[in-house]
Amino acid sequence: ENINTPFDALGEEKLHLLVEAFYKRVGQHPELVPIFPDDLTETIRKQKQFLTQFLGGPPLYTSEHGHPMLRARHLPFAITMTRAKAWLSCMEDAMNEVELDTRLKEGFLERLTLTAQHMVNTPEKDE
Ligand code: HEM
Repeated sequence: ENINTPFDALGEEKLHLLVEAFYKRVGQHPELVPIFPDDLTETIRKQKQFLTQFLGGPPLYTSEHGHPMLRARHLPFAITMTRAKAWLSCMEDAMNEVELDTRLKEGFLERLTLTAQHMVNTPEKDE
């Protein structure tokens, strides 16, 4: 069996279920709703492409959209540390919902945490 990358270990079907479970939470999270589009269909499609390549699968995101430049693509949105934590908690809850294998979950979340921290571009509102 070919399980040379986290993508192979996870499988496309489960990755897609994970991304859907994740955006279901994003679409209900009070910290995240204000910056995401109402219709998450296209966001979901792009995130499936991105996470496929992030986990070592085929470069689906880059083939269609070019270099990810994630920090630059996130600059139009005010991403605070609170929002980064909200994003990560939606992801962890989604991983639990789809019952991701514990070791896969830990490694994946660790990498996502680093990426999420890198996306922070706005200080907390002091009000
Ligand atoms: C797009 C928020 C972290 C990957 C977006 C969009 C928002 C957003 C508002 C635009 C959605 C749209 O217009 O469809 C956030 C917030 C984060 C975060 C608040 C918290 C830190 C991440 C992380 C990753 C990521 C950690 C990757 C591991 C992407 C991708 C897109 C995207 C691939 C689509 C970019 C495109 O338009 O091609 N994000 N994001 N984001 N995000 Fe994030």
